[in-house]
Amino acid sequence: MMSLALAAVVTFRDIQPILERRCLSCHRAGEIGRMPLVTYSQARPWAKAIREAVLSRRMPPWFAASGSFANDPRLTAAEIGAISDWVASGAPEGERRGVVPSPAAGREWDLTLTMPKPVLVPAREELEYQLVDLPASFAEDRWVTAAEVRPGARGVVHHAVVYVREAGQPLPRHGPTKADILAVYAPGQPPMTLPEGMAKKIPAGAALAMQIHYTPNGKAVEDRTSLRLAFAPKPPARRVLTLQIASTDFRIPPGEPNHRESASGTLPNDALLLSMFPHLHLRGKAFEYTLVEPGGRVETLLRVAPYDFYWQLNYVLARPRTLLKGSRLRVTAWWDNSPNNPRNPDPLAEVSYGEPSKDEMMVGFFDVAVEGDVSKEEFFRR
Ligand code: HEC
Repeated sequence: MMSLALAAVVTFRDIQPILERRCLSCHRAGEIGRMPLVTYSQARPWAKAIREAVLSRRMPPWFAASGSFANDPRLTAAEIGAISDWVASGAPEGERRGVVPSPAAGREWDLTLTMPKPVLVPAREELEYQLVDLPASFAEDRWVTAAEVRPGARGVVHHAVVYVREAGQPLPRHGPTKADILAVYAPGQPPMTLPEGMAKKIPAGAALAMQIHYTPNGKAVEDRTSLRLAFAPKPPARRVLTLQIASTDFRIPPGEPNHRESASGTLPNDALLLSMFPHLHLRGKAFEYTLVEPGGRVETLLRVAPYDFYWQLNYVLARPRTLLKGSRLRVTAWWDNSPNNPRNPDPLAEVSYGEPSKDEMMVGFFDVAVEGDVSKEEFFRR
């Protein structure tokens, strides 16, 4: 009998734009996805694994349970269908076409700052947080519209935070600080790109310090991480501040499968909420941001479930959201300290705040835009 398969066979030519849009930010040389998926010969051996990963929605990684986010990378049903059909018909190449480089690859940066000396990360023992001054001094105010932390040795850089250290301001190596945060890196994070007309400020005379958490990887390596910045030519209409609601005062009982803690803060002024970035450690299970408006209305802004320590993502709102002065922002974390959590380093331990991954942290970072040139201190004072 003649085949009735009249529909055109799906080839790599049809799949390639999907990979470009959704996968190549990580799956190309120098990025965190282990194998590049840029060309046909690179993608072909992975065809079945690709189908499996997109059908199960393990790839691309995303953990927001609801809400509408500008950086939501998930595939549409049609895209998943196309990949599935491609693999079903033997993953043919089809007519060849040039690779369209991903937008992130083509960005121009104004300044690259690299750690002056390498840090030796031992094979096994976990280092304390490192605090490294980046070799830059700014004679005049700078307005940062995009920033990217580029780990030197990706396998060991667990996360990094770049602080703006104002002239004369000390920066504690540990614990919370009032210093402004310029950039946060965790695996899977694309570069920070702020909306048109918004920027973060590096005041004249300030220095930049990078706090890095390294995790050993079984092999001693040296790391020199870099920071890349793009500047606005003139002061923007709005300044972006990275704020955080955190708790250092909690105890998770041994074996407890669903321990919950909340912390909250009240906004002293109106602000426009742009994005949210939750941070927990290995026992983290879920994380939620809740808004309590001055009139008492309660709304969940973000629920990350399951929380995955190995995928710390920033969730950028599709539509920035005005937070009225007097609004309360509450963050809630859930942890699994039971033996059923395969990542649990020690279910017999009572766990409290600490920087090493065997302890826990609970931080809800969030970016807000404020009018003009209001500093973090002024925002909280007025
Ligand atoms: C945010 C970065 C990122 C994006 C985006 C991403 N990947 Fe991955 N991918 C990874 C990393 C890192 C690994 C290896 C670690 C792991 O398995 O968790 C991986 C592993 C894989 C694997 C190996 C098998 C598996 O499932 O673990 C496949 C296949 C894969 N990715 C396909 C894709 C496809 C197809 C897309 C786009 C639809 C995609 N990935 C998007 C980072 C990413």
